[in-house]
Amino acid sequence: MASKPVVLIVDDEAGVRESVRMVLKDQFDPVLLDSGEAAIEWLESNTAALVYLDILMPGIDGLEVLERIREKDRILPVVMLTATKTVKTAVSAMKLGAFDYITKPFDVEELRMVSDRATENASLRREVEELRDAVGTRYGFDNIIGESESMQDIFKTVTAVAPLKTTVLIMGESGTGKELIAKAIHFHSTRADKPMVTLNCAAIPENLLESELFGHERGSFTDAVERKIGQFEYGHTGTIFLDEIGEMSPALQAKLLRVLEQGEIMRVGGNRPIEVDVRVVAATNRNLQDAMAEGQFRSDLYYRLNVVSLEIPSLRERKEDVPHLIRHFVDMKTKELGLGDRELAAGTLDRLLNYPWPGNVRELENVIERMLVLGPAQGAIGPEHLPSELVDGPAVTMHVREQVLSGHKSLSDAVDEFERDIIGEALNRTHYNQTRAASILGTTRRILKYRMDKLGIGGLFAER
Ligand SMILES: Nc1ncnc2c1ncn2[C@@H]1O[C@H](COP(=O)(O)OP(=O)(O)OP(=O)(O)O)[C@@H](O)[C@H]1O
Ligand SMILES: [Mg+2]
Repeated sequence: MASKPVVLIVDDEAGVRESVRMVLKDQFDPVLLDSGEAAIEWLESNTAALVYLDILMPGIDGLEVLERIREKDRILPVVMLTATKTVKTAVSAMKLGAFDYITKPFDVEELRMVSDRATENASLRREVEELRDAVGTRYGFDNIIGESESMQDIFKTVTAVAPLKTTVLIMGESGTGKELIAKAIHFHSTRADKPMVTLNCAAIPENLLESELFGHERGSFTDAVERKIGQFEYGHTGTIFLDEIGEMSPALQAKLLRVLEQGEIMRVGGNRPIEVDVRVVAATNRNLQDAMAEGQFRSDLYYRLNVVSLEIPSLRERKEDVPHLIRHFVDMKTKELGLGDRELAAGTLDRLLNYPWPGNVRELENVIERMLVLGPAQGAIGPEHLPSELVDGPAVTMHVREQVLSGHKSLSDAVDEFERDIIGEALNRTHYNQTRAASILGTTRRILKYRMDKLGIGGLFAER
């Protein structure tokens, strides 16, 4: 079993230390200290997930300990314990970077709740921090490849809209980079150092989604044994990314709309609105206009989200990006996998460039990774290391195969169709030079001409 997180409890009164310990001991591993000096010394060589700190103590007081902590650690959450008369000081403690304060005598529920909020908030912030340290510019445009005009337009819009609080709706087929663009918006905004929370509306069961978004009060439904903070509250001052928003039920869409309009949420079972300052970015690979026509998506929400919308084109519609993406992923993956320089055979590159990429950038990324892993360390990587759909031609072959096997088409028709298609492509690539096309196909010009006539395409291509 994983060990419990450590909570450091610092107070000069034994009674206070003990009662905080009692409340938190199931969830945390408590360490009790009776002075500021002891706390500073302990923190020199130990770490905690959370600190409770009395303000008024003889010797080094709580505020000074807080300042010392902040010099070393910007995230470690510190909650001040204060007697009612020092609430003013507690407020200045907040300015020094305390997470919250609790007045003595404290409420057991409140203590638990503040502890949860503080540790969860800290872990979110650490995640963000780690992400930026580790991958620094990953979500800068440096690492979003797009030379095509359509992608350049998207970058322009992202740059313009990122600093504003405007809701952004990102549309595009699966694997086109919607999430990457959502992150770019967050990291180019003034909220970049605040949390970005992500919620996939399709991945969470309908009945839990509302409490996941807005939280719930204890006892609000059978399984609600504890109060729960929702993602909107966690995203306070930051950004919430609502992925697959097209999958949200109309009832919840109505609630989301109210949140967007009023800037406040209501926990499930709660009776008081909570103000939240959250920037919403939503994404979908569903056609929302169709969904609206079918009555599955509310038009008022659509228009509210659609203030700024970005439509990321499929990779088929921006073929000029493919070579850049290939280079980018080969560089990135060889580094990540600790491989040396790799070289691609001409045939491999040819297939990568001519494949229609129905799974868009994600598919391209996966194919490259697989090819690098499976391919030889020495010499060029040949097309045999590509998945069969790239080698055997586009998905059409699968489709035709099904048609034959289900009795909708004869084998000889299917073979003719395939031959017609491949001869046509060979002629295309050689600018209709039949001699060169024949040599690509491993045959003679005479036989090629014969096949073309037989397939009824002889007259279609001018002879050269
Ligand atoms: N323009 C790009 N440049 C570099 N990498 C990209 C680009 N677009 C997408 N990727 C990479 O492709 C993968 C898929 O992108 P992402 O997850 O953002 O797609 P998505 O549109 O959210 O897909 P889905 O609809 O399936 O969730 C990610 O690893 C992402 O980093
Ligand atoms: Mg996605």
